[in-house]
Amino acid sequence: MAHLTSPSAADAAAAGEPPLMGSPPGEAISGGSPVGGPEAAGRSVLCLPIEPGLLCLRGLSPRRLRFEVEYGLERGTTANSFLFEAGLASDGHAVPPVLIHPPGTTYAEPFFAALAERVPAEAPLKVVVGVVNPNRVELLRAMVARWPHLALVASNAGAKLVRELWEQRRPGPEGAAEAEDSVPLPPIDVVKQEVCRPLAGSLRLCLIPAPTPRWPGALMAFEETTGLLMSSKFFSAHICVEAFAEANRSSTEEDRRWFYDCLMAPMARQVEAVLDRIEDLPIRTIAPFHGPAIATSWRSLLADYRRWGEGQSRARLSVALLYASAYGNTAAIADALARGVSRTGVRVESINCEFSEPDPLLAAIRSSDALLIGSPTLGGHAPTPIVSALGTVLAEGDRSKPVGVFGSFGWSGEAIDLLESKLRDGGFAFAFEPIRVRFSPDAATLRSLEETGTGLGRRLQTEQRKRQLRRPGGGLQESRSQPAIQALGRVVGSLCVLTARKGEGNAALSGAMVASWVSQASFTPPGFTVAVAKDRAVEGLLHIGDGCVLNVLAAGREKGLMKHFLSPFPPGADRFAGVAISASPDGQPVLEEALAWIEATVQKRMDCGDHWLLYAEARQGGVLDASGTTAIHQRRNGATY
Ligand SMILES: Cc1cc2nc3c(=O)[nH]c(=O)nc-3n(C[C@H](O)[C@H](O)[C@H](O)COP(=O)(O)O)c2cc1C
Repeated sequence: MAHLTSPSAADAAAAGEPPLMGSPPGEAISGGSPVGGPEAAGRSVLCLPIEPGLLCLRGLSPRRLRFEVEYGLERGTTANSFLFEAGLASDGHAVPPVLIHPPGTTYAEPFFAALAERVPAEAPLKVVVGVVNPNRVELLRAMVARWPHLALVASNAGAKLVRELWEQRRPGPEGAAEAEDSVPLPPIDVVKQEVCRPLAGSLRLCLIPAPTPRWPGALMAFEETTGLLMSSKFFSAHICVEAFAEANRSSTEEDRRWFYDCLMAPMARQVEAVLDRIEDLPIRTIAPFHGPAIATSWRSLLADYRRWGEGQSRARLSVALLYASAYGNTAAIADALARGVSRTGVRVESINCEFSEPDPLLAAIRSSDALLIGSPTLGGHAPTPIVSALGTVLAEGDRSKPVGVFGSFGWSGEAIDLLESKLRDGGFAFAFEPIRVRFSPDAATLRSLEETGTGLGRRLQTEQRKRQLRRPGGGLQESRSQPAIQALGRVVGSLCVLTARKGEGNAALSGAMVASWVSQASFTPPGFTVAVAKDRAVEGLLHIGDGCVLNVLAAGREKGLMKHFLSPFPPGADRFAGVAISASPDGQPVLEEALAWIEATVQKRMDCGDHWLLYAEARQGGVLDASGTTAIHQRRNGATY
């Protein structure tokens, strides 16, 4: 069977932050040659000495070059690898250099140049593989060509993936496999369970398998003497910085939360198990694969991961997300759908069918309130694990619960047809039309996928509320009738439309929402706050540093705009179609019918339960109708807007 897994790959260099453990700033080696193709452009590798005999090779990618949701904050990224020098171990035997968590092929050129300066081509070299995907295997193949005495260290699942992907050829746009010279598969030292090994000097490396649906081959590494946990994808943040460690937690809070929400939330249960495992390790520093390391406050980050996961585990509604993915495209679609669903507070149970045991799959199918199943098309078929998962769904699935089908394909896409026809014939109702994406989804497609997920999450929430209302003493009525909630309803607000646009040219994304929980919040600098529900489609465009415009509506002329922006838009729809807009100096959408507009930049975001409270600093603005007055929104209950 063709193989399966997932990939991945950006500003804000926090120059001047002290590197970890007082080491001098490292030297940079830049790339841009054909190795790794166009995506390699602008990538470089920085060598950061961490401890005597230990170096961090940090791949820097200042710009957003990939579109998966995880890169949505557009702050570039980094790829951290670690090199332990060769030497004699404490028992006197010679230990070769050990490289931990090599990057993807898009860093190949600068990475090889940096490594070649430290490890001669004829030397033995051990490479501990963190996550396995086609991108990484492509780099390992190129490495073997340069370091023929290289040996791999991988977890059980990781070794299986490396073997499957090693011989596979990525298909060309029309299906024909790209010709490549055959590189012998190096020896693989398989880590079946946790094991510790001596390194040069007094250092000791423990290898901890940490499988998850997204990264079944994940392998963390912990060096006991320095207390350095090389946590692979866990605790990562897509920001491009040169300083080895973050200056303080708040400087990366939003990026780490974003990474968690995009990739960890749908597998909160498995992430919890990893937290339980590492909590008692004598950690001094956590060094994830992406972003700066966390030294002083790593415990608070673990606490954050638990807190962010609680939202998921507390959720009463859940969606089972079954998928498989060879090159990561179907996985990227799954991520976007999962992000859209989990924004509504509905839990996502993500299952990688290739690596899942039958029981958790069956449990997810039986316990979920909706089920999504996604597959690539390989050789005109759906991969076997998907076919057998489909069989379980047909045998065990509840026909009263909605299903959804999605997948990436190259030229024919039979797998998606198979899933659709079997489930339709099996009497299942579809939550949305089957999603077919040719190869990898672009930014606009990912956005519309998120909205499709949000639409499903909201539908489940609405149906649950209806069930509660029907049930005597269903709680909702009670909350609406609580005096405090009724009193809260007497707080009135200006009627506004918050608009935002992000990105350049065709890749630009825009959005809008009606807002009435708005208030001026400061004189100097001039600023306002606005509350944005977590499942609002525009929320993803309103992160710290993002621009927006608060359009204040005019009394007597608000109805048309209200009606337009409150209408249910299909996923990915242009919210401004049919509305007169112009651009603010910074290119943000201004409603020409508004009373006044304020262009602003989001400075802070506060997590307020089911809403984010944004503080935005006003930059420019104008009153479009000096004679008009502000439309005010009166209501009688704090349980609704
Ligand atoms: C070995 C192989 C066979 C493939 N066969 C088909 C095919 O028969 N029809 C098709 O539409 N796409 C085919 N593709 C293209 C994949 O469906 C496409 O690359 C897709 O993006 C893979 O999704 P994934 O990244 O989630 O695995 C094939 C790809 C490979 C590697």
